[in-house]
This record gives sequence, C-alpha cells and structure tokens, in this order.
Amino acid sequence: MDSRERLIVALDVPSVEAAQAIVARLGDTVSFYKIGYQLAFADGLAYAGKLAESGKRVFIDLKLHDIGNTVAAGVKSVARLGATFLTVHAYPQTMQAAVEARERGLRILAVSVLTSSNDADLAAAGYGATVEELVARRAAQARDIGVDGLVCSPEEAANVRRIVGGRLTLVTPGIRPAGASAGDQKRFATPSAAVAAGADYLVVGRPILAAADPKAAAEAIVAEIAAAGPRG
Ligand code: C5P
Repeated sequence: MDSRERLIVALDVPSVEAAQAIVARLGDTVSFYKIGYQLAFADGLAYAGKLAESGKRVFIDLKLHDIGNTVAAGVKSVARLGATFLTVHAYPQTMQAAVEARERGLRILAVSVLTSSNDADLAAAGYGATVEELVARRAAQARDIGVDGLVCSPEEAANVRRIVGGRLTLVTPGIRPAGASAGDQKRFATPSAAVAAGADYLVVGRPILAAADPKAAAEAIVAEIAAAGPRG
C-alpha cells in the first residue's frame, strides 16, 4: 500500500465549511478522512457521501452498539454513503450483526476497549478483567467473528497483531510526530513506532489540523510512514 494512503486525517471540526477548507488545503496529500461525532452530528454525514463521491476514502467513526437488528440497519445506511471504514464497539453480538450486514465494500473496524478506560474504570463498569485481558479477549472474538480490523492504541498494536494475525487491518490513533504537542493523548507514539508495532493506517488529527502549515505537516507524516516501510 502507498504510504500516502495509510494516513487518515481526523476531521474533528465543528462544521462542513471548516471540513471543506481543510480538505481543500490538504489537496492530493491526503486521500482518507475520518468523520466522528462532532462533524457527523453537524451535517457531516451528507458531507461524507460527497467526499466519497469526490474520490476520497471515508471512515465513519460512530462506534455503533445496539441490538443486532438496529446495528445491521445502520451499517447498511453507512454502506450507502460510500464509506470505506465504520467502527463498532467490540461486543460479540454487535460485531456479528455488523459483519453480516456489511456491503458495497464497507469494512467493519471494532473498538476493543476505549483508551480512556483503565482497570479501575472497567471494574466500576462491572467487568472482572483488566484492560489488557479485555483487549486480548475482544481481539480474539473480533478475529473469530470475521471483523475486518481493529482500532487500537499504538502501544497495544503489537499485542493485538499477535492475536489477530496478519489478515486484519489495524488502525491506530494517538500519533504524535517527534516534537508535536501531546494534547490530551496520554498514550501516543510517533508514526514510525506505530508502523513498527503493526499499524496499517494511522489516524492523525491535531498535529495536522492545528499546524501552521497543515499540508507540510501531513507530507512530513507521509514521509515518516514511507521511511518506516511496510508494517512491522
Ligand atoms: O487530534 P488527535 O490526533 O489526538 O486525534 C485523534 C483522533 O482519533 C480523534 O478523532 C479521536 O477521537 C480518535 N481516537 C483516539 N483514541 C482512541 C480512539 C479514537 O484518539 N482510542
């Protein structure tokens, strides 16, 4: 895969106008965009369809989780937008419903355990497992159900890759080029470390959106991915 296609820019902006401005500014440097709650719930889903029509790839990061019938219907609607990736929470019923409903080239990514959760948060939510145990269990379930890939932190990627094998796609947010501000990310890695840990795609938001020259920042990350070579 071309290094340029491995960078996914998170369109974490409040309006379609702001998204259009950043997409225009990044031009041919970026071919893949992620749309999450903020933009999706501000007319961003219609914009996602237009972005896909214009030839960009689109990742809908709405982390679905509901009864199977509702998940399946939602997956079909997202497929009709022309999206490439959609996230769901890694609950077996939810993953199964999403996998069975996927169509039109849409690929399902499972979110194992939110990176904002630690062991105490899991205990408070009623789980009798550590984050590491739950991530491992859900990664194995995702593999067995036939999910297309997983979203995980760069520091989990090597372990998740061992569990799921080479076929699944791993997508890692929490990327900070050397010298960039961490923001609120507590666990992060450079682009080359994420690739070495087994990431196929890297999701980057603020290091590009908040850069004085976003296109140059994106080019530098693409160059670092290229220098890191194929995934580890
Ligand atoms: O600005 P930054 O590069 O931190 O953006 C990372 C993007 O990845 C955000 O859209 C964020 O919601 C998402 N994300 C994350 N950590 C996760 C899952 C998703 O940072 N575990």
